[in-house]
Amino acid sequence: MQQSQILRNLCLFVVVSSMAVVVLGLCDSCQTNNVACLNETHYRFCSSNVAPNQVAQCPDGQVCTSLDIICIDKGVYDPACSNSTADGSCSSCDGTNLFVCTSRTTFQMCDGTNLTSQVTKCKDNKVCSINSGKYCVDLCEVGDTVECDREAPL
Ligand SMILES: *[C@@H]1O[C@H](CO)[C@@H](O)[C@H](O)[C@H]1NC(C)=O
Ligand SMILES: *[C@@H]1O[C@H](CO)[C@@H](O)[C@H](O)[C@H]1NC(C)=O
Ligand SMILES: *[C@@H]1O[C@H](CO)[C@@H](O)[C@H](O)[C@H]1NC(C)=O
Repeated sequence: MQQSQILRNLCLFVVVSSMAVVVLGLCDSCQTNNVACLNETHYRFCSSNVAPNQVAQCPDGQVCTSLDIICIDKGVYDPACSNSTADGSCSSCDGTNLFVCTSRTTFQMCDGTNLTSQVTKCKDNKVCSINSGKYCVDLCEVGDTVECDREAPL
């Protein structure tokens, strides 16, 4: 392989693996407090000494966090795995933008504040980046800031 191609593949690999982290957010990944938050309120233990496949729940009004105390009152600290982490947050048509990314690899036109139904796909290995002015850019160009971190349009 030529050196440029090796570099390119390396970059692709790094970005794809960092995207995987972004996609999963901190949902279901073992933290330093030895649990993995499954959603805002539920978690599982990461210690190999605890029998697997057991889900525990935070007390009412508390959320699962990366803190040592694990669960803490909602609003005091950001949950490690929130609904929006799981969904990815994507911009919506606010009346000033012409296009918005509707998934990592698609974008759609806005009609005022309404989203039109036509879905346009980026080429393979490109990710949607309306902010770049190019619609889609190489994975390596966006780094961790994917505009719409979602597998497919809603
Ligand atoms: C959180 O995850 C647990 C275990 O998967 C599930 O039972 C519970 O319904 C989930 N709660 C929410 C709010 O999604
Ligand atoms: C997340 O989803 C659950 C269940 O749908 C809801 O009870 C909770 O309020 C949501 N949390 C946020 C921050 O939207
Ligand atoms: C957006 O959609 C709503 C409901 O279909 C419609 O009433 C409204 O006129 C639309 N807005 C624009 C700017 O097209």
